[in-house]
This record gives sequence, C-alpha cells and structure tokens, in this order.
Amino acid sequence: MTATLLPPPGTERGPRRWPLLGNLPAFARDPLAFFESLRDDYGDWVPWSLGPHRNVLVSRPEHAGELLGAVESTFKPTELGWAFRHLLGNGVVVATGDDWRRKRALVQPALRPRQVRSYATAMVECADALAGGWREGDRIDVHREMAGLTQRIAVRTLFGSDAAGREAPISAAMATAQRELGTEFRGITLFLPPWVRTPGRRRMRAAVAVLDREIEHVIREHENASAAGAERDDLLSRLLAARDEQGGPLSRQELRDESITLYIGGHETTSTTLTWAWQLLSGAPGARARLTEELDRVLGGRLPTYEDYPRLTWTQQVVKEALRIYPPIWLISAVAAEGASIGGRAVPVGTSVWTSPWSVHRDERWFPRPEAFRPERWDADAPDPVPEHAWFPFGGGPRACLGARFALVEAALVLAVLGQRFHLDTGARRTGVFPGLTLQPAGPVPAILRAARP
Ligand code: HEM
Repeated sequence: MTATLLPPPGTERGPRRWPLLGNLPAFARDPLAFFESLRDDYGDWVPWSLGPHRNVLVSRPEHAGELLGAVESTFKPTELGWAFRHLLGNGVVVATGDDWRRKRALVQPALRPRQVRSYATAMVECADALAGGWREGDRIDVHREMAGLTQRIAVRTLFGSDAAGREAPISAAMATAQRELGTEFRGITLFLPPWVRTPGRRRMRAAVAVLDREIEHVIREHENASAAGAERDDLLSRLLAARDEQGGPLSRQELRDESITLYIGGHETTSTTLTWAWQLLSGAPGARARLTEELDRVLGGRLPTYEDYPRLTWTQQVVKEALRIYPPIWLISAVAAEGASIGGRAVPVGTSVWTSPWSVHRDERWFPRPEAFRPERWDADAPDPVPEHAWFPFGGGPRACLGARFALVEAALVLAVLGQRFHLDTGARRTGVFPGLTLQPAGPVPAILRAARP
C-alpha cells in the first residue's frame, strides 16, 4: 500500500558523501538540522552513510511505525556501545532476543498504572517540597531545578524514602555517568573499541564503581526488609518480588542493571520534558491561563493525587505538546535482518534504518505550524486529527518505552503542584537545543519566579 510513496529502488537521491567518512561530518555537526535537511531536500526515504555503514532515514509516520513494530523480528536493535554496556550492564534497554523478552516481562509489571499510582505520592511530595523553598522574585535555572527534582523522585520511587541518605552519592554518580554517556553517544568514542582508555571512560568507570557499591547496599537493605516481612511499594521491591515463567527471580546483577536502567531511562528524559514545558508555557500566556484555570477548577488549592490525573486534561495536553516539539529521544534506529522491509520495499541486511521523532514531529504535513506551541492540537474535537505514529516520543512496537505512564503522570503532577503557585517566567525566547543522549537545553534556562495568578 505504502510502496507507491517511495521512490523506486536505485532512483532515490541522498546527500553527497565524503570518501571514508560518508556523511559523518554533517551528522556530527548538527544531527537535527541534518535530518531535517535530508527530509526536505531528498524526501521520505533517504540513503546516507556513517563511515562505511549504510543507513536510510525514513520520515513518514507509517514507516516509523513499521520499523518500530519489526524490532526484535526482521530488525535488530542497534548495538549501543561500550558506555551503555558498562553502565546499564545487560538491562532491558541493552538486552536483545530471549534475554530481553524475559527481562521486559519481569520489569513491566512494576510500571503498570496500578503501580504508578503508588509512586504518585512521592512525585507530589518531592514537588511540594521544592515549591516550599521557592519565593516570588527568586531567580532560578529551570533546567537545574527540574533535574534536581526528577533526581529526587527517581531515587525515592526506585529505592523508597529511607534511601534518602544515599541520594547524594547516587545522584552525583548518575549525573557523571549520564554526562559521559551523552558525550560518548554523540562523539567519535562511540566507535572506539572497549579497551581504548579515554579520560571520559575513566570518569565513567569511577562513577559506575560508586553506583555498584551504593546499589549493592540498597539491594541488601531491601532483601533484609523483605526477609523481616516488611511491605514496601518502591520499584526495587517489586523487582525483587518479580518471578519469570520458570519461577526464577532477577539475580543480584540483574537487579543492579535494572535499577540503573530505570533511573537512566526515566530521569533525564522527564527533567528535560518539564524544562521545555515550562519554557513553552512562559511564551504562551493563553495556554498558561488555561492551565491555571484548570488547576483551580480541579484542585481548588489542594495538592493533586493520582486520581486527579484523568481530569487534568489541559495539563496532559501541555506535556504532550512539549514532547512533540522537544522529544527527549530524538533519534531511533534499528538494523535490518533477513526479510526486512519498509513500505513494501526490501531493506538489505545490515542497513541501519533511522527515524527521528524530532523531524517527524516538526513536519508540517502532520502538524500544521509545527514550531508553534499549541496544546489545543490535542483537544478531543480538534479539526486536524494527528496521523497514527506521527507522535512517538515513547517509541512504539514491542520495545516501546516501559515508563511512558510513569513519565506522563510525573510530568503532569509536577506541573500541577508547581503551576498552582508559580509562573516560571523565562521570557518568550526559546533556548537552543543540544542533542546529547536526550534533547537538552544548550545552556541554563534562567527564570524569575512570579505568582501563578497576577
Ligand atoms: C518523557 C520521558 C520518557 C521518554 C520520552 C522516553 C522515551 C523512550 C523511548 C523512545 C524508548 C524506546 C527507545 C528505542 O526504541 O530505541 C524508551 C525505552 C525505555 N524506557 Fe523510556 N522514556 C521516558 C521515560 C521513562 C521512564 C520514566 C522510565 C522508567 C521508569 C523509562 C524506561 C524505559 C525502558 C526500561 C525502556 C526500554 C524498553 C525496551 O527496550 O523494551 N522511560 N523510552
């Protein structure tokens, strides 16, 4: 059906390639602009290369959907490199095949809506504590505040409130590890073999040594508490109680890998979502007024709970629109195996097919005036329905994000707690983007705290 939308094999056009390097220079310089220019200049199916490696960029939503749906069958996940393996071990993000299937089945129940309900209290308490320390007229860096907040939420929901004493070393080591992961992801080191030592890799090893020690302690404390019959409802306790089809638990090493995976998977993605949401709201007084009106109407001055989430529809639309304009995971790729095809066209084995939530979300064919922040796009009765797969910040298919519900609830509840009291005035200017491991602001996001209601 979609085959007619693609140029016939052999006739497709792509960017000029450098000898040996292919399109590496343009990709490394500005990958977001590179992907947009491939789409605009060459169409929806564009061959390009990184060094000798053959790639294709697909930019139609249905092709992104097909690609994501075929990962773990006719496409294989992209190899993530030394830094990911060193940090995440063989956690569910890194694992493939049967090993991945078993781990996904073990981790998924801990992130079901019923369980997310129990994490909502920690989300609200952490946000409320932050708001309690803010005063009107204070100057803050929104990105820094949101990173600190989501870090505290991650430690509490993962390890429980009594892990607060370990929060500082864990958060500091996670921050270093995350930074090095981002540097490795964007840089030439991604292609270096594991035995090559670089200063960044030394920093990563040191951070991982701290994490291994701290998480070992936390796991032991949890095991002791569980042996003493204590009931806990943090993520780690649920992972400890999980059993696979043969009745086997996650091993110590697997518990460590999944703990780090959930922290890394969930913390920076959500903190950047919130940072962008505040900045977009700051430049949109109408959307902000609607947010204040909704928070007053639904909450009437009290703190939100999980049960309020379905009624915070505008708040949810703000989050959804922020995720559209600034999708934290801006790039997804998979490698073609035997029998791979997209849009009815065979993809040669070994070719990497890429799709970019950033460039699909900013395509005016699917989102009129794509640069504009318009949460009303997501109104139930909006005139232009969004095509399937055109919005995919959480990926899709069998390897879709396990924490989507967690992240959406966290972002909405944090907006609700802080937005009830404050307007984070960043002015109307939008900060530039830095596409690291996630799509981050290129620098601090300064704001003046003002009262939510003028
Ligand atoms: C706004 C926040 C988030 C965004 C935008 C996001 C995005 C994504 C995306 C795009 C993928 C798929 C990547 C791929 O196919 O290559 C993914 C996978 C994953 N995410 Fe998230 N994520 C977010 C929050 C979270 C949270 C809060 C958690 C956990 C608490 C989490 C845990 C995971 C895990 C475990 C996977 C791997 C699933 C698998 O491979 O089977 N994410 N996420």
